[in-house]
Amino acid sequence: MSRRRQIYEGKAKILYEGPEPGTIIQYFKDDATAFNAQKKGTINGKGVLNNRISEHIFTLLGGIGIPTHFIRRLNMREQLVRQVEIVPLEVVVRNVAAGSMSKRLGIEEGTALPRTIVEYYLKDDALGDPMVTEEHIAAFGWAGQDELHDMVDMAVRINDFMAGLFAGVGIRLVDFKLEFGRLWEDEYSRIILADEISPDGCRLWDMKTGDKLDKDRFRRDLGGEMEAYQEVARRLGLLPDGA
Ligand code: C5P
Repeated sequence: MSRRRQIYEGKAKILYEGPEPGTIIQYFKDDATAFNAQKKGTINGKGVLNNRISEHIFTLLGGIGIPTHFIRRLNMREQLVRQVEIVPLEVVVRNVAAGSMSKRLGIEEGTALPRTIVEYYLKDDALGDPMVTEEHIAAFGWAGQDELHDMVDMAVRINDFMAGLFAGVGIRLVDFKLEFGRLWEDEYSRIILADEISPDGCRLWDMKTGDKLDKDRFRRDLGGEMEAYQEVARRLGLLPDGA
């Protein structure tokens, strides 16, 4: 596998050319970054856990009819996915105030939101992923009206499903980020879920203790990152109870 062509290296993943046309291998690194890569570190074993957690969630989402790029997990750190043209937006879904929303709007972290809120951010490291509105998305053509509709529709369904999944194992789904891609077939494309869903891109709080079981442990120097990710995997039934 050493000869395969690297297509892209991101902050937490590397993409390689897949074995068949239209496929890609997604490799999960242990690297962790925060605040637009101003803070960098390594969480040993994170890639292995995120690969497994993301596989699990994408498989379940596929089961409820969400189209995703996931094909199959190949090994501890790699999964085979469909090649898509990534939509240059991060779609964030929030159920509880936290992080940048708390900061921007002065709402105390942990305040339940009166309704689920969907936000869009432009994927642009140089600009620090600024928040954008539907107006910007339409005006600058980052996504079509139908595409945006499909993304929001899927984001809401994914939130409903994941909130229930995590609540069932004593975890509050505070917020999370999704990325979508265009799957091209001839001259037509459709939107499918891409990237990953893991504690790197979700806020997950223990319902009893309020403990953070996500990347905020790294962002806020709380320590215990690996234990937190393992706890999420364990509760989802992906690790033996004693592990
Ligand atoms: O930082 P903020 O509060 O806007 O993050 C909202 C959610 O989106 C969090 O769960 C965070 O992990 C995720 N996120 C992400 N990648 C980004 C920005 C946010 O995964 N670049």
